[in-house]
Amino acid sequence: MYFDTIQKTTVIREEPLILGIESSCDETACAVIRGRKILSSEIISSATEQAKYGGVVPEIASRAHTEAVDEVVERAVCKAGVTLKEIDAVAVTYGAGLLGALLVGLSFAKALAYSLGVPLIAVNHIRGHMAAAYLDDEALQPPFITLLASGGHTAIIHTKSYTEFEVLGATLDDAAGEAFDKVARVLGLQYPGGPNVERLAREGKNNIVFPKMLKGEGGYNFSYSGLKTAVINYCHTMEMKGQEYSRADVACSFQHAAVDVLIQKAIRAAKEKHLSTIVAGGGVIANGYLRQTLEIACKAEGLKAVIPARQYCTDNAAMIASEGLIQYKAGNFAPLDTNAKAAIPLR
Ligand code: KG4
Ligand code: ZN
Repeated sequence: MYFDTIQKTTVIREEPLILGIESSCDETACAVIRGRKILSSEIISSATEQAKYGGVVPEIASRAHTEAVDEVVERAVCKAGVTLKEIDAVAVTYGAGLLGALLVGLSFAKALAYSLGVPLIAVNHIRGHMAAAYLDDEALQPPFITLLASGGHTAIIHTKSYTEFEVLGATLDDAAGEAFDKVARVLGLQYPGGPNVERLAREGKNNIVFPKMLKGEGGYNFSYSGLKTAVINYCHTMEMKGQEYSRADVACSFQHAAVDVLIQKAIRAAKEKHLSTIVAGGGVIANGYLRQTLEIACKAEGLKAVIPARQYCTDNAAMIASEGLIQYKAGNFAPLDTNAKAAIPLR
């Protein structure tokens, strides 16, 4: 078929130069990696514009991507100190995300791959989050336990090889990031909620008892909806009684309840599967309390924790290039008629 002619002539290099593009939500991002080394990672965000509306407005995101994509790719290529002609493959997020937003990055990537005569690699955004750690630790190899916590996903995953996974448990309702965002709204904090809850929590104490979500039961599954409701009820009850309460204490107590269970379950999974490494990925992993607690807990249990730098936990294109590298090595190239998908499973 006409659309898959490029992949048939590709020579697989050991340390390819991969250009990654990400545009699934409100960040237009481009990165260049050589093997597992990040040469550049650029982001143009429409988050400030979105904050006025209290969340991401899809049409605003799509327009912002259209305006930013050219510039962000140019910046990434320049900062990497390479030329477009040297690029071996173009990796791009094809889902999950906002359809109009995805289409901007995907169309750009298709045109670029076609014009350069190199393969296109279609990347699942969540698999990108899971692959960010490979850039943080160049020696990292599966198997390990992946703790994934983003705006839409929360899961404990047994990563068996670069391409094989078993989801041991996942959220039954809200994702961890979603809970942070909803609690932020209750506390009157601006979008994006997670970092603002973290900032407020630093001024508070962990002195309010919120339900620990499925701590002992439920295998590796989570439920954040009960925790979120408990926070809402606490605030409303105090307000109805006309009692003063500390928003900072609510933020801090919520953060502890939300994070502690993630870490306990990840550690239990590592022990039960006899694995010595826990790898973290997703926007919530940017949380300072989570990072510190995971590091300390792993040390205490004799486990290794691989926690990517904050900017590679939240949406970025280096992680897309990293998953692109895995697919490149597997020879898994995408035809040029690949379409964007609003929702896709982990695999
Ligand atoms: O992974 P991500 O950037 O996008 C998705 O793929 O979903 O995750 C975004 C989520 C948001 O819910 C945001 O509030 C949360 O990650 N987040 C945080 C922090 N930074 C981002 N949550 C807690 N603490 C943070 N510092
Ligand atoms: Zn993401």
